[in-house]
Amino acid sequence: MDDLKNATVLVTGGAGTIGSHVVDAAIAEGVRKVIVYDNFCEGAERNLREARAQRSAEVVVLRADVRSREDLDEAMRGVDYVFHEASVLLLESARKPQKAIDVNIQGTFNVFQAALKAGVKKVVWASSASVFGEPLRLPVDEDHPFNNKTFYGATKAACEHIAVSLNFTAGLRHVGLRYYNVYGPRQGIKGAYAQVIPRWCERIEAGQPITIYADGSQSMDLIYVKDIARANICALKSACENDFFNIGTGIETTAKQLAEALLEVTGCRIPPTYEPHDVNLVKRRRCSTERARKKIGFVAAVGVREGLKEYWEWRRHGLD
Ligand SMILES: NC(=O)c1ccc[n+]([C@@H]2O[C@H](COP(=O)([O-])OP(=O)(O)OC[C@H]3O[C@@H](n4cnc5c(N)ncnc54)[C@H](O)[C@@H]3O)[C@@H](O)[C@H]2O)c1
Repeated sequence: MDDLKNATVLVTGGAGTIGSHVVDAAIAEGVRKVIVYDNFCEGAERNLREARAQRSAEVVVLRADVRSREDLDEAMRGVDYVFHEASVLLLESARKPQKAIDVNIQGTFNVFQAALKAGVKKVVWASSASVFGEPLRLPVDEDHPFNNKTFYGATKAACEHIAVSLNFTAGLRHVGLRYYNVYGPRQGIKGAYAQVIPRWCERIEAGQPITIYADGSQSMDLIYVKDIARANICALKSACENDFFNIGTGIETTAKQLAEALLEVTGCRIPPTYEPHDVNLVKRRRCSTERARKKIGFVAAVGVREGLKEYWEWRRHGLD
């Protein structure tokens, strides 16, 4: 049984949105030491405030890149467990496919290889619901075919195959988590690649209407970032290996419903505007949560309104 008590863990992308919450969750599990491995291209020191403020675990921050195998080898000496979160995300992958190959595919391969060399006991890593693309059926279970057409999804699918192969050929113990639509504190405050909730919040703060594409019926399976961090802990502590899990809520929220909830939570009275052109790549998202519940004991706990309230509250105080 894998146990985090007194363990040394390394979190790639540990200064990012999800990674920094994984750092906090690992500390809450009683780890002895956390190594944050991040090149800070998107990550921020501010995200590590809570981790740095606590006194139970040693926190070491390495400004380093997953593209450097040497730096990974050096950082992984003596590490028990790795959470791998560093990645180029969806929109940037479309604009910079070579970078997505270098960071997502080569970088993930480097993390796996370094973990094998250092004798790391298990790697829990971020895949994505993007591997499934537009659903052929709902809810999307783990055996749903890969119907992806995005470059980002292609890099994540490649990583899944690499992980399975390294399990077979070299005994890599890993669990890949297919996160759905993640939101919450510390997320995306840099405009260009911001996701829908941060983008809409920015508009509300600027006194501008939020924009809904087409009729607003396109849906997401929204999952709060602290639930995602907890799923990582569940996956690590479970007996599972060489396995993949959907990490979502199993609840579909349309863009229109999300807009209504956000306007209510923020007290904004400016009605949304509608754009006829729909830029969304996937029209519907709803995952089956059964397998994660049964095999790693994970069930999402935070509902959309509660999560949005916490995110909005964080934006009031957490950005400085
Ligand atoms: N946010 C979502 O909705 C979502 C959904 C599915 C999957 N994911 C996956 O979850 C993981 C974390 O995403 P996030 O939302 O926290 O993104 P994020 O951008 O907030 O965090 C990624 C972190 O990785 C770091 N990083 C990027 N390139 C690096 C490199 N070459 N070397 C070292 N560090 C590097 C960044 O500085 C950042 O701190 C990613 O693998 C992402 O693909 C996210």
